Amino acid sequence: MYLGLENGIALVTAASKGIGRATAERLANEGMTVVATSRSAGPTIEEHGQGRIVPLPHDLSDAATTATLVNQVVERFGRLDVMVLNTPGPRILPALDVDWQDWQAAHDLLLRPVVQLGTAAAKTMRRQGSGAIVLLSSTWVRQPALGGVLSSSYRSAASAFVKTLALELGGTGVRINQVMPGATGTDRMQGIVEMKSTTNGTTVDEEIAKVVKDIPTGRWGEASEIADAVAFLVSERSSFITGTALPVDGGAVRASH
Ligand SMILES: NC(=O)c1ccc[n+]([C@@H]2O[C@H](COP(=O)([O-])OP(=O)(O)OC[C@H]3O[C@@H](n4cnc5c(N)ncnc54)[C@H](OP(=O)(O)O)[C@@H]3O)[C@@H](O)[C@H]2O)c1
Repeated sequence: MYLGLENGIALVTAASKGIGRATAERLANEGMTVVATSRSAGPTIEEHGQGRIVPLPHDLSDAATTATLVNQVVERFGRLDVMVLNTPGPRILPALDVDWQDWQAAHDLLLRPVVQLGTAAAKTMRRQGSGAIVLLSSTWVRQPALGGVLSSSYRSAASAFVKTLALELGGTGVRINQVMPGATGTDRMQGIVEMKSTTNGTTVDEEIAKVVKDIPTGRWGEASEIADAVAFLVSERSSFITGTALPVDGGAVRASH
């Protein structure tokens, strides 16, 4: 499917590995210049087909530099066509074991940067009269899970934020959507099943089986499958879709709409 993204400028955060990295690669392979931020970003620009990934060191927990990130991209590349709001995941803990420091840290990684970057990107795109924003959240927004209170709580707020942006910018040429990944095979997911196997005295394979038994497709997803959904939602192939929240989860969410 022709996506019409070539020569565009994208900003993808938390993108050195996992879902963020797969998304950056997918957009670069479509011919975009993708600024990919993370704490460990190196200096080397990577060519991908007609596009490229430009790594940029950035810590999302730093409010001051997060406030300038969109402007940095616009000053260097002249515009911003695509903003992918990805964040690292928070701690997984039973709700009653979460202390106030955990709440503050999760707020500063999951919600504050999404609001800062989403607002800056939306203002830039409204001026341009075009652009697309995707929030990468989680199915836990729609279906909370044991241990996921930090993720569900702040991502629900982020979800409401982008939905409101989509309503308010509906007639400006700017579209804002959300992709909700389900269980996806990344380092984070590997870390979670390893932590559970230690806590529960089980093997990692037993913990993986527990995750997968609730997924109708019988497997978890690949980061590239999440990236494919993001690429569609930022492309001209989805020109009449805004304000939507798309689970990419092998059918795991039980809600019918
Ligand atoms: N995997 C899943 O099953 C799944 C399902 C639903 C939702 N999610 C959510 O999707 C997001 C990505 O998950 P993932 O599985 O792709 O995670 P991952 O493989 O652990 O990758 C996390 C990324 O975040 C970056 N990062 C971490 N701390 C950062 C910081 N302070 N500032 C900037 N970047 C930072 C990391 O790079 P550096 O360490 O170099 O900074 C890395 O690129 C998370 O929010 C996760 O909770 C994941």
